[in-house]
Amino acid sequence: MAAASPATKTKAQTKAKSPARRTRNTGRRDPLAVVLLKQDHREVEAWFDEYEQLDNDREKLALFNKIALALKVHTQIEEEILYPAERGEVEDDMLDEAYVEHDGAKKLIAELEAMKPSDEFYDAKVKVLGEYIKHHVKEEEQPGGIFAQAKKGDEDLDALGERLKARKQELMAQHGRSAAH
Ligand SMILES: [Fe+2]
Ligand SMILES: [Fe+2]
Repeated sequence: MAAASPATKTKAQTKAKSPARRTRNTGRRDPLAVVLLKQDHREVEAWFDEYEQLDNDREKLALFNKIALALKVHTQIEEEILYPAERGEVEDDMLDEAYVEHDGAKKLIAELEAMKPSDEFYDAKVKVLGEYIKHHVKEEEQPGGIFAQAKKGDEDLDALGERLKARKQELMAQHGRSAAH
């Protein structure tokens, strides 16, 4: 069901910029796909910073769960939609490395999900996951990186952005349902 689920919206982030811009692949403004993915990156980076300020285990667990869900959904929509569409537009090595980095992040997330915040190395693992993600995000966003190469290609990144957005909503709703207990 497409019931409204306000909990999945990130208001502060979506308000900041009005996304859809009709610049094809030329202008300096980002197309929708890049706007949306960058918003996800900023959101999760802020949560990693926030995590470092916490010392309550319940709050740590809640924030980590939020980070884990965001990362799972984000990596999934990139792997299902963005990366395959960019095969041929973006250097193969760069895309291959992105998949491998996603896998590395997923393994760390799975390890953390099997732990409790009071466990030894829990905080360290969250910290390393954050650094890992920051590195990966840089590979996507830096000049000459995945997004920059994608913007030079023929793919319509506004249309792709609509697909990313729809799939993200669907996955957030699915995860939201299975997490409710
Ligand atoms: Fe990625
Ligand atoms: Fe990304």
